[in-house]
Amino acid sequence: MNFKTASFLLAALPYVLSGPLVSLNSTNGLAARAPSSSKSVIIQMFEWTWDSVAAECTNFIGPAGYGYVQVSPPQEHITGSQWWTDYQPVSYILTSKRGNRSQFQNMISTCHAAGVKVIVDTIFNHMAGVDSGTGVAGSPFTHYVYNGIYQNQDFHHCGLTPGDDIQDYTSRAQVQTCELENLADLATDTDYVRGRLATYANDLLALGADGLRLDAAKHIATTDIANILSRLTAKPYITQEVIFGAGEAVQPSEYVNNGDVQEFRYTSALKDAFSGGGISSLQNLDNQGWVSGTQANVFVANHDTERNGASLNHNSPSNTYVLAMIFSLAHPYGTPTILSSYTFSTTDDGAPNGGAGSCAANGSSGSWVCEHRFPAMAGMVGFRNNVGSAAITNWVSPQSQQIAFGRGALGFVAINNADSAWTATFSTSLPDGAYCNVINGNSTAGACTGTGFTVSGGKFTATINARDAIAIHTGALGTGSGIVTPTNPSNPGTVTVTFQETATTTFGENIFLVGSISQLGSWAPASAIALSSASYPVWSVSVTLPANTSFQYKFIRKETDGTFVWESDPNRQATAGASGSQTITTSWR
Ligand SMILES: *[C@@H]1O[C@H](CO)[C@@H](O)[C@H](O)[C@H]1NC(C)=O
Ligand SMILES: *[C@@H]1O[C@H](CO)[C@@H](O)[C@H](O)[C@H]1NC(C)=O
Ligand SMILES: *[C@@H]1O[C@H](CO)[C@@H](O)[C@H](O)[C@H]1NC(C)=O
Ligand SMILES: *[C@@H]1O[C@H](CO)[C@@H](O)[C@H](O)[C@H]1NC(C)=O
Ligand SMILES: *[C@@H]1O[C@H](CO)[C@@H](O)[C@H](O)[C@H]1NC(C)=O
Repeated sequence: MNFKTASFLLAALPYVLSGPLVSLNSTNGLAARAPSSSKSVIIQMFEWTWDSVAAECTNFIGPAGYGYVQVSPPQEHITGSQWWTDYQPVSYILTSKRGNRSQFQNMISTCHAAGVKVIVDTIFNHMAGVDSGTGVAGSPFTHYVYNGIYQNQDFHHCGLTPGDDIQDYTSRAQVQTCELENLADLATDTDYVRGRLATYANDLLALGADGLRLDAAKHIATTDIANILSRLTAKPYITQEVIFGAGEAVQPSEYVNNGDVQEFRYTSALKDAFSGGGISSLQNLDNQGWVSGTQANVFVANHDTERNGASLNHNSPSNTYVLAMIFSLAHPYGTPTILSSYTFSTTDDGAPNGGAGSCAANGSSGSWVCEHRFPAMAGMVGFRNNVGSAAITNWVSPQSQQIAFGRGALGFVAINNADSAWTATFSTSLPDGAYCNVINGNSTAGACTGTGFTVSGGKFTATINARDAIAIHTGALGTGSGIVTPTNPSNPGTVTVTFQETATTTFGENIFLVGSISQLGSWAPASAIALSSASYPVWSVSVTLPANTSFQYKFIRKETDGTFVWESDPNRQATAGASGSQTITTSWR
């Protein structure tokens, strides 16, 4: 949804213990725990139509070894071009902008035939957030009356705030019985509403759905979710959106017995680590106070965080987005989801091409980013499927932005998030042999199209380029040709532009870059790109920009209280060249 920023704004509040502890039924949760199959990687096919998901399951997702697609909400919703209309249900007719019921069913059976399971984004929390209208399948509705489904009495009218909207996330009653951004809040504590939601979910299961992603789960009491799930005719995989906020009344840990919980602290930790904090902090993620890895569903970005600045995204500089996804697929913590997204000029923009997704062989096609096709992602899915639940071994980290580790005797990865190459001899638990670097190559019949490494006596020597990674595993053996292809599959028509801005700051202040094009955050400070102060007072960052593109930009200074100070007018102007790289040197004004 588009209204998740509130919980992040609260993240700075001091921790307050509030709300009763909820009693949990541990029998109930086990069947819905993290996908246990040998193929556990999920792709969030954000806003793809059913027909295009079906085709992609057959053409790429199944053969690449992904386990699941997570698809957009399939029920009838309000009209409009914006993506978030999908999150305002009007009825449980399976007609949406993604397609109709028969297309939905065909998508599930086509994906199943390709060996891919389907997780459905499911909205138990609410109905529409507008006063009245007609849904995309023709159903008329008013805010609290949905013909033949719900009437006024089936909604919470919390009476705690003006307009019944959630204002205070330290109040459990507000979070769970007031309205999230005016969305009519279903009375999930009533037998009728629980039964109606279970009927909807059972319809999805009857059509073959394998899992449910419960949207806005934090806004539903965990006991209400447990009750609805107890009425289901099958035991689907469950993952719940419970956005962590420090000091909030409702905490992710309350939900672990219903199924997995989406652990947003992981998302922000990866953003911080890869953006400068240091990735050496990411070794043990089970001792951070988050939900345990076996109860967590994790991602580098989802559709909300790529818009609200709470995560890395495909515009993040210095290949950090790709490196973070490589890390996510290499590290055993949690069940990983890869977001497959599209570029947008405003955060409301719905999918291009009416949602008919398409990809080039190795990634982006038009506005579709197709992260799931990035060669490094496809290679790491094979890695994760091969290493399974093997423990971390042989961890080394010579400096905060360089890490390497094994997964038992089955795989080994090295990630270099520093700005200079890293040459090292690594000790592994791997059997001796010739291995193919799955970040830049594929192996068939002993021949590797990328770089090869020979493990001898458990050791191998490698040079990992700046802001790059290597990964080898026992499922991809082969002598490498040494052909090194870029891990960043951006179109060939890009240039690397390095910005060097001299700016004097006081402790706690940071310099960001924001500009007119989407790669520079479309003038939104929340999407501005952080510069490194490594060569203070020169702040610098390298950004991949489309070739032959003129743009305007400014530097902004983020104060310790989070406010921004902009450089004086006029806007700065530059043009990315035809190819290669260029450096722009400026001083704060
Ligand atoms: C826990 O859930 C299981 C499965 O739904 C149910 O059979 C059992 O009665 C529940 N136990 C308690 C204590 O609620
Ligand atoms: C669903 O959409 C397809 C494609 O537009 C169409 O051929 C089919 O008749 C529709 N089915 C129903 C039940 O509306
Ligand atoms: C793109 O994919 C093809 C196979 O589909 C492969 O041969 C080629 O090397 C890949 N290119 C890159 C840059 O990874
Ligand atoms: C390996 O092959 C797959 C399937 O053709 C392709 O998508 C991927 O890009 C290839 N990886 C590399 C690194 O070339
Ligand atoms: C950029 O401009 C040069 C010179 O006009 C041209 O040769 C090149 O094809 C252009 N590149 C792109 C990606 O448009």
